[in-house]
Amino acid sequence: MYSEKVIDHFMNPRNVGEIKDASGSGTVGNAKCGDIMKVDLKIENGVIKDAKFKTFGCGAAIATSSIATEMIIGKTVEDALKVTNTSVMEALDGLPPVKVHCSLLAEEAVQSALWDYADKNNLVIEGLKKPAPDQEHHHDIDNEVVNV
Ligand code: FES
Repeated sequence: MYSEKVIDHFMNPRNVGEIKDASGSGTVGNAKCGDIMKVDLKIENGVIKDAKFKTFGCGAAIATSSIATEMIIGKTVEDALKVTNTSVMEALDGLPPVKVHCSLLAEEAVQSALWDYADKNNLVIEGLKKPAPDQEHHHDIDNEVVNV
């Protein structure tokens, strides 16, 4: 039920770790499944030079954070904002419906790190929204909950 790309990024995740003196860091969580994802960014002259992640979560969350970091490295901050959960899922050749929220975590973690960067540098980045203040926020995933 998982694509080869999802399995590859889960088995061999790219960009795992942390960045010392990161330009911006973001940690997000999903209250329902309890998974947590942290993204660190190194940004120079408005371009993402490096991105690392640590995900305490399911395989799909690890795969989406792995590919999301790959997708944003080398991009400008503005272009990185266009890396949404939809583009992450497309890059992974899809995710099962019950795992869509995992890709939202990746989008939120990147945006949260970008917000931290903007906040530290007094920058206003068009289209970037302030993340929720705690880790309890989540999108409406009720229709994705499965009975086990
Ligand atoms: Fe919650 Fe994948 S992030 S199950």
